[in-house]
Amino acid sequence: MARQLRVRSLAVMPSAILATLAVALVVSTRMAGSPRSVAAPPAGKKLLDPGAWGSDHVGQPIPEYMESGECLFCHRNEVGGTWQTNKHNRTIRDAEAGEPAVQALRADPKTKDLADEVQLILGDTRAQKFLKRSAGYGKVDLLTAGAVFGRGRRAKIESPEKPHWDAQTFALECAGCHTTAVDPRTHAFATLSLDCYTCHGDSPAEHTNDPKLMPLAKARKDPPAAITSICASCHVRFGKSKATGLPYPTNFVTGDNLFKDFQVDFAQADNPKLNPADRHVMENVRDVVLNGRETMTCLSCHDVHSGSSRRHRDLASEQYCMHCHDSAEPIKGHKTYEVHSDRCRY
Ligand code: HEC
Ligand code: HEC
Ligand code: HEC
Ligand code: HEC
Ligand code: HEC
Ligand code: HEC
Repeated sequence: MARQLRVRSLAVMPSAILATLAVALVVSTRMAGSPRSVAAPPAGKKLLDPGAWGSDHVGQPIPEYMESGECLFCHRNEVGGTWQTNKHNRTIRDAEAGEPAVQALRADPKTKDLADEVQLILGDTRAQKFLKRSAGYGKVDLLTAGAVFGRGRRAKIESPEKPHWDAQTFALECAGCHTTAVDPRTHAFATLSLDCYTCHGDSPAEHTNDPKLMPLAKARKDPPAAITSICASCHVRFGKSKATGLPYPTNFVTGDNLFKDFQVDFAQADNPKLNPADRHVMENVRDVVLNGRETMTCLSCHDVHSGSSRRHRDLASEQYCMHCHDSAEPIKGHKTYEVHSDRCRY
């Protein structure tokens, strides 16, 4: 039941996004001269209202967006080559019989009977979860037992006691960040894993003549707050939608201001116990949307399509870097860290 491509006229869509970005541009110009703060601002400093600019799609239908097959027909050269291995594309994929996680499931007497039912794997090098398709459209069941990877990258089954398929949890707690275009009423997703739409949004077909119509196009120079809204819509694992109470955003469409509906616990950026992976995200998001420090976004360091963070090496050293480096200059080597997440159950 795949969605059909329906190319829509320019007149329908971009006005909302353009209005959003126009407001965001005003915000960014206004903030250009403000003092830069790296850590939490001193008491009394005026914080921005993250929800002040732009609009969102809460209560509106999900746009009829263009799917990756269509995009890649034209973009197979720049993007097609890396998309197959891109971690966004692969966050959920078919479970191959030889997968270490599936083998570990089969090797454990408590879970072995379920191994043949596993159809999909969710996750990466630290933890993986087992899924199977539900009868209902856009739903999957989550196995209560999952795999974690320890030393030597051996898979180990966690919570193997009384393993069973859970039909609720994925839709209510995971779908919004691991699948594409989740319907806020039914919690059904349109496509497994993350399609181009999750970052590039409801991209107009007319962008082929005018790339500036395409969110994240180089020529367009999207405002930092708009970029941060995109990445934070999944990478902030400490938020809750006001509209639904669920731990993922409600019908977020690129160009929206995420923070109109998504309530974020920014204090996590100061939580010394939080792992460096989540902390550097939380601090950068807070810097941009609360402190108005717009000189550095996720894209100052990350190239999403190549999956590389090489460009971050050329930045000037500052306190922020110490999430992952020791305070020595020049920077050599980096800290090793573990990542656990209550949100993602690993
Ligand atoms: C708010 C968005 C969000 C929600 C909700 C969410 N995840 Fe995640 N998940 C992420 C992000 C972002 C990452 C990548 C984090 C990183 O690499 O540091 C991730 C990573 C993972 C990983 C891979 C860990 C690894 O590195 O190997 C697993 C497994 C996972 N999530 C499972 C789940 C499950 C199961 C749920 C629901 C119970 C869930 N997630 C809900 C955003 C989310
Ligand atoms: C996780 C977010 C994300 C997803 C998913 C994503 N992109 Fe991108 N894409 C970006 C960002 C960010 C840039 C801008 C790169 C920059 O300026 O650093 C970009 C740039 C591009 C470019 C410009 C050329 C380039 O390599 O910089 C093309 C073309 C593109 N994306 C196409 C696609 C297509 C097609 C898909 C789906 C198959 C897709 N993108 C999925 C984030 C994403
Ligand atoms: C009919 C062919 C076609 C389709 C389909 C198409 N594009 Fe494009 N796209 C182009 C052309 C042509 C350009 C402008 C020339 C260029 O920059 O590559 C462009 C430009 C872009 C850019 C800006 C590139 C840059 O250098 O900054 C991005 C990002 C992009 N497309 C993403 C997408 C995404 C995402 C989809 C699917 C939702 C898509 N395109 C579908 C042909 C297409
Ligand atoms: C729709 C949700 C979503 C959006 C939007 C999103 N990400 Fe992700 N991202 C994920 C998930 C989920 C993972 C982990 C995938 C896995 O390992 O299973 C991930 C992994 C990553 C990783 C680690 C893997 C790698 O490729 O190095 C980086 C870095 C990253 N994302 C950066 C970004 C940036 C920058 C943006 C904004 C342009 C962005 N992401 C937008 C969900 C998202
Ligand atoms: C100053 C540079 C910098 C900024 C800003 C930055 N990152 Fe990172 N990030 C890194 C580096 C470097 C790594 C480690 C990459 C590696 O392990 O190769 C990393 C790792 C990650 C990972 C993988 C963590 C893990 O261990 O699983 C994710 C996901 C991620 N970043 C997302 C983001 C997002 C989203 C933003 C914006 C809110 C962001 N980053 C901002 C430099 C940065
Ligand atoms: C999220 C963790 C993270 C953050 C934040 C981070 N780095 Fe890194 N950095 C790494 C990792 C991992 C490596 C090794 C892999 C690589 O080069 O991407 C690294 C490598 C480097 C290197 C190369 C070191 C060598 O031994 O050759 C430099 C230089 C560097 N980082 C500078 C910075 C600067 C400057 C900042 C702040 C603006 C920063 N890093 C922020 C994780 C991080």
